[in-house]
Amino acid sequence: MKRFYIETFGCQMNVHDSEKVIGTLEERGYGQVQTPEEADLVLYNTCSIRDKAEQKVFQRLSENKKSKGKVFGVLGCVAQQEGERIFDKAPHVNLVVGSASYPKLGELLVQIESGGRRVTGLSLDSDDTFETAATRRDNPHKGYITIIEGCDKSCAYCVVPFTRGHERSRASASILDEANALARAGYTEIQLLGQNVNSYRDPSPAGWDFAGLLEAVGRVEGIRRVRFTTSHPRDFGREIIEVMDRTETLCNQIHLPVQSGSTKVLAAMQRQYTRDDYMRRIEWMKASKRDIAISTDIIVGFPGETEEDFEQTLSLLDEVEYDSIFSFKYSARPNTPALALEDHIPDEEKGRRLMVLQERQRAIQLRRNTALVGTWQEALVEGRNSARGQWIGRTSQNRVLNFVAAGSEQPIGGYVPVLVTRAGPNSLAGECAIAV
Ligand code: SAH
Ligand code: SF4
Ligand code: F3S
Repeated sequence: MKRFYIETFGCQMNVHDSEKVIGTLEERGYGQVQTPEEADLVLYNTCSIRDKAEQKVFQRLSENKKSKGKVFGVLGCVAQQEGERIFDKAPHVNLVVGSASYPKLGELLVQIESGGRRVTGLSLDSDDTFETAATRRDNPHKGYITIIEGCDKSCAYCVVPFTRGHERSRASASILDEANALARAGYTEIQLLGQNVNSYRDPSPAGWDFAGLLEAVGRVEGIRRVRFTTSHPRDFGREIIEVMDRTETLCNQIHLPVQSGSTKVLAAMQRQYTRDDYMRRIEWMKASKRDIAISTDIIVGFPGETEEDFEQTLSLLDEVEYDSIFSFKYSARPNTPALALEDHIPDEEKGRRLMVLQERQRAIQLRRNTALVGTWQEALVEGRNSARGQWIGRTSQNRVLNFVAAGSEQPIGGYVPVLVTRAGPNSLAGECAIAV
């Protein structure tokens, strides 16, 4: 049997793509191994969102030089961005495939198996989405489902439209079939994935929008939790909150990337909304009868960002009171419109702003988490920390909740009520009431 090794970088879309790639390989008789040394086929599913992410794959490729008979493949966003240039940078690579070509992965593997030296899948023209019956999910309780691939926005800093191509929505019947199949297989949590889930448009005659799809997935029998990511503020409609208000299975969580609190910077980023537009959406969430946890992504040091612009991002943190944030220093990326902008911010200053931002947010998170002490939360039991004698759970709001349970056997994958007794900036701790 042929053995493959795969390492995955980047976002949840990439993680889920790898699950599909692994399923496809196993269907073809390959077996997965845990080190590149043991493998005949070594695959890197790559990310290009920031320069550091891109550098990682070239590091890996230089660490693992060709040994006789071993095939190296570069998949994902760096593959699409660099294309055949990868063969020049790392001549021992034989396979370069962007995510839009995964529907052809089977054919490409046949070419590799018959000795192909430089096999590529780099077309961005196809309208296909990558659907396979053979997805190999690692987690037996939580499953990702892709609903839309690619991105039609053109945020000035972002490589994704170049690396993942234009938007392709998947037919609603196919999504619901997968959700039902997951429920039958014992999954209780589903996460719907797309670069911009809000622009989902069902290509079949049913013609659903994202809110309609969300409600239908929320009604799948056996599914207890549904999350979705990522939302784009410009396309985020109020009907999503309405659907959440009436559909209990939809989790109390929304990730709504803002990027900056300054309307001037948002315009330069080509985000297509103002700070006020964004705040209106936050107000919808806060007016919901659900207790929605809100998270975001922020970029500091975008070209032209002044100290005053940055202060506006800080004031946005205070105004929204996010439950968590992902924050990044702006990284200049190939092909993107922001390359042409002037007034790039020195790295040291970007680093300073990032630290200030993260410190401000840490205090907010501690406050938000502390407010939950004394409340009961339902936790999905995700694992066990034996060293600490604690179970690891996750709440509907997507908070990590570590808890002790009196002498009991907590089934991983079960849902239990937990009393929150302590809070830190990044997690909660508590006690489970029931002994199972
Ligand atoms: N589709 C999603 C996010 C895609 S990338 C969305 O539109 O929100 C995830 C995050 O990476 C982005 O939200 C942004 O904050 C960050 N990011 C993207 N390009 C970047 C760049 N060139 N430099 C720094 N951060 C970047
Ligand atoms: Fe990138 Fe913007 Fe598309 Fe998100 S919406 S993937 S940030 S271009
Ligand atoms: Fe990275 Fe591509 Fe995702 S660039 S963040 S792996 S879409």
